[in-house]
Amino acid sequence: MTDARQGLSGLLDTEAIRKDFPLLDRTVHDGKKVVYLDSAATSQKPRQVLDALNTYYERHNANVHRGVYTIAEEATALYEGARDKVAAFINAPSRDEVIFTKNASESLNLVANMLGWADEPYRVDRDTEIVTTEMEHHSNIVPWQLLAQRTGAKLKWFGITDDGRLDLSNIDEIITEKTKIVSFTLVSNILGTVNPVEQIIRRAQQVGALVCIDASQAAPHMVLDVQALQADFVAFTGHKMVGPTGIGVLWGRQELLEDLPPFLGGGEMIETVSMHSSTYAPAPHKFEAGTPPIAQAVGLGAAVDYLTSIGMEKIHQHEKAITEYALKRLLEVPDLRIIGPTTAEDRGAAISFTLGDIHPHDVGQVLDEQGIAVRVGHHCARPVCLRYGIPATTRASFYLYSTPAEVDALVDGLEHVRNFFG
Ligand code: ALA
Repeated sequence: MTDARQGLSGLLDTEAIRKDFPLLDRTVHDGKKVVYLDSAATSQKPRQVLDALNTYYERHNANVHRGVYTIAEEATALYEGARDKVAAFINAPSRDEVIFTKNASESLNLVANMLGWADEPYRVDRDTEIVTTEMEHHSNIVPWQLLAQRTGAKLKWFGITDDGRLDLSNIDEIITEKTKIVSFTLVSNILGTVNPVEQIIRRAQQVGALVCIDASQAAPHMVLDVQALQADFVAFTGHKMVGPTGIGVLWGRQELLEDLPPFLGGGEMIETVSMHSSTYAPAPHKFEAGTPPIAQAVGLGAAVDYLTSIGMEKIHQHEKAITEYALKRLLEVPDLRIIGPTTAEDRGAAISFTLGDIHPHDVGQVLDEQGIAVRVGHHCARPVCLRYGIPATTRASFYLYSTPAEVDALVDGLEHVRNFFG
């Protein structure tokens, strides 16, 4: 056992944690134990979350905010209780600042559309600018492209340095008096980079621009405190943080949520409706048209309970140690090139790499034959691949249940891939 492996012991009881996740016990391809290294795409779910979903459907299923009967009141209490849990998890000043959506993409599209339909001082038009980065997931690029096309606003972005960091050398030219919104990821899903939030927010605040943070790859892995971040909007998704699919979160500052117009119209989001016009319910309901993802929110509440019971700081430290170990071991593999930062400092637990000229899809397939699950492709962040002149990467990503033995299995698996392709 290497020093780096020994350094991992004692941070988290991964053996006990893994027992909570039924899927991690699975085998594939004639008895090969699954080595799940794709948590950046979606995390596995602990029994506590699966039980919460089942119990909700078996005992409390009804529509929310409508019924006067006992079960409907229970469903409403569970749904709104999940909002309380999420608000506490991200240290939101008010539970009314937590909007449930279906995923982070919907959260980011919601912000773009709120601004797209807003009046002054938020209005985005041909005299204004929108800023994002080359490092974003498509979900934080395409909504802004759509908004720019619709309004005539100019879309600008920060580039990426060779070592996988944001190039902020021209920050004063990118974020200007014309900037209405700066939207960027806290942690890159493909490079793993943790971005310098404070520096970007300071400049945005100087020019009076709003700031939206995509925290999809941060909320599952580190303490997320929206008050400390000082952004205006923070988006993330439930399924990457041991919760179910179909539930996302948009946190927004209360006064903005009061001022900005809704995007989707329908039931639940109104105060009064006549055939001529409508008035809207206060936030968060103003932004939650239709029957919401009730069971999914309850599942997310259970996920938050689960992560909190373990401790986000401990999870973060565990992942940092695993990432450090994985970087060290991967850098020993001949012909392997890491795309992104090569040290664990200011870095998340997703590691992208190429292996000589073997296509990542071939790497992924040969790894799968050994039971090792990684993601291959452009990871919904194609501009990053274009930046590095590569068609795709192989990405291994780690979470609270990942172990050094799984890192070793990946490295052995890559050796097998290299032998297979000669
Ligand atoms: N956004 C997810 C990923 O990075 C799907 O894999």
